[in-house]
Amino acid sequence: MPKLFVGNWKMYLSDDEAVALAGAYGEAARGASCEVAVAPSFTALERVAAVLKGESVALAAQDVHWEEKGAFTGEVSAAALSALGVRYVIIGHSERRALGESDVAVAKKVRAVSGCGLVPIVCVGETADEKSAGRRDAVVRTQLEAAMAGLAPEGPCVVAYEPRWAIGTGVACEPEDAFPVLAMIRGIVGAGRRVLYGGSVDAGNLARFVGEGGFDGVLVGGASVKPDQVPALLKACA
Ligand code: PGA
Repeated sequence: MPKLFVGNWKMYLSDDEAVALAGAYGEAARGASCEVAVAPSFTALERVAAVLKGESVALAAQDVHWEEKGAFTGEVSAAALSALGVRYVIIGHSERRALGESDVAVAKKVRAVSGCGLVPIVCVGETADEKSAGRRDAVVRTQLEAAMAGLAPEGPCVVAYEPRWAIGTGVACEPEDAFPVLAMIRGIVGAGRRVLYGGSVDAGNLARFVGEGGFDGVLVGGASVKPDQVPALLKACA
């Protein structure tokens, strides 16, 4: 299974910037030996999809609502994402959990996404306080088991271990510290499901996470929106 690189563009870019960045990804991915996906804002999905047509870059969404349709102002359904060509959906990102997204909501989103034939990217990770209280493994296990309750037994799913204290801080987890969590996650989700690392990944440290015995890829935020970094990031993820 090739490694998976996912660029989480968050709310960093205008739609015009996202379109330009998608062009850089399309070009860089032509020579890459990893799989590549990018997650622009909802508003840019359609234009980015058009740029990526025929390229080996999959489209991802940053969130979703669990209901199929109805009176849910501001929400976007899995079916609407699927119609735009989205393949992956990031669920339970720590920036959403920080706004109150619960394990129950995450499980419902996982169910909605897999029910539409899309692949959830379930994010799990502990805060700095939870880590220092020795609760890292318990927190990750609880988050993951809750999310998995929404998934069909054979349903495709990607898990991203993203320690919250490592996201956007420039301080990545040491790979040696992340590997025991990786092993635990694999034990819960089973072989054949990719487990990514995320949190201050850049072109300099990426290879340490996906090297021998390591993660099946990475979820990258800040570094993923710098066009000049894209070729180096994808190369390091091979
Ligand atoms: P970062 O974000 O690479 O900017 O730390 C990762 C993420 O939030 O997925």
